[in-house]
Amino acid sequence: PTALAGRHFLKELDFTAQEFLGLLELAAELKAAKRAGTEHRYLRGRNIALIFEKTSTRTRCAFEVAAADQGASTTYLDPSGSQIGHKESVKDTARVLGRMYDGIEYRGDSQAKVEELAAYAGVPVFNGLTDDWHPTQMLADVLTMTEHSAKPLTDVSFAYLGDARFNMGNSYLVTAALLGMDVRIVAPKAYWPVQEVVDRAQELAASSGARVTLTEDVAEGVAGADFVATDVWVSMGEPKEVWGERIEALAPYAVTMDVLRATGNPDVKFLHCLPAFHDLGTKVGRDVFETHGLTSLEVTDEVFESAHSVVFDEAENRMHTIKAVLVATLA
Ligand code: CP
Ligand code: NVA
Repeated sequence: PTALAGRHFLKELDFTAQEFLGLLELAAELKAAKRAGTEHRYLRGRNIALIFEKTSTRTRCAFEVAAADQGASTTYLDPSGSQIGHKESVKDTARVLGRMYDGIEYRGDSQAKVEELAAYAGVPVFNGLTDDWHPTQMLADVLTMTEHSAKPLTDVSFAYLGDARFNMGNSYLVTAALLGMDVRIVAPKAYWPVQEVVDRAQELAASSGARVTLTEDVAEGVAGADFVATDVWVSMGEPKEVWGERIEALAPYAVTMDVLRATGNPDVKFLHCLPAFHDLGTKVGRDVFETHGLTSLEVTDEVFESAHSVVFDEAENRMHTIKAVLVATLA
């Protein structure tokens, strides 16, 4: 058994830097083993439930492929395919699934729900995204950063532009603070993480040596950055009526080639958890572009398709890192 056997994976704040880095090391090992065709199946005979109250491509597929590679079975419960929340309480669902499964993934809106599931399931529970945190995404993003930077993480600088009040902004801030990075949240003040999250990040920084900056100034925020990241301006579960105000507030924070140039770093890399609105490839994107007379939102197609962009390495790494979480907690 590993040091994390039996643990939940609910939010970054529950982990020490050493534990987080341990998961990244394991993910890198599992990735290399899969590539070499030498992967050992640590999860033979295990069963994992995947509850999705919001839609997903990457997270669902990452859990399913990771489990299959390791010899475990999964059951996918889609946003309408279970009684959870409608006809059965979270607490009862937790106790039922805990009797059948060795681990439970949950994606939904409230962090309280995934915490409640964890409190009653009796088996490890994994947060596959809530409105507050996206911790499995952080493992993938930091693994991607280590793969694309020769520097130790404590020397890496990272700027996140856009809506920082939601899962991605919160998770980036505390994760970078935990790991001792130079992290800049670049957004209008109204879109900064809530003070409680900023306070936690500052506390972590005090012991990790992280440098935490929140700024409205794009040039200041991205100067010298090794990585620039963004996320959609309107997240799952939010009403589409907010697009107008978001575009108005966040347009100056869109990741363009000018923003990458402003880093002064010719090797700067671009990250996005995806899905992204960068071209006319989605119906939602087309509708928003048309309504507001735009050709891109949080990132231009030019940046997305450029050599700076490492978004598909990041997407692949969702699978290797989620596999590490499963192996570390369930093997
Ligand atoms: N990045 C991410 O969580 O993608 P999905 O919503 O497709 O799972
Ligand atoms: N902030 C986005 C992330 C998607 C992976 C959302 O919650 O929709």
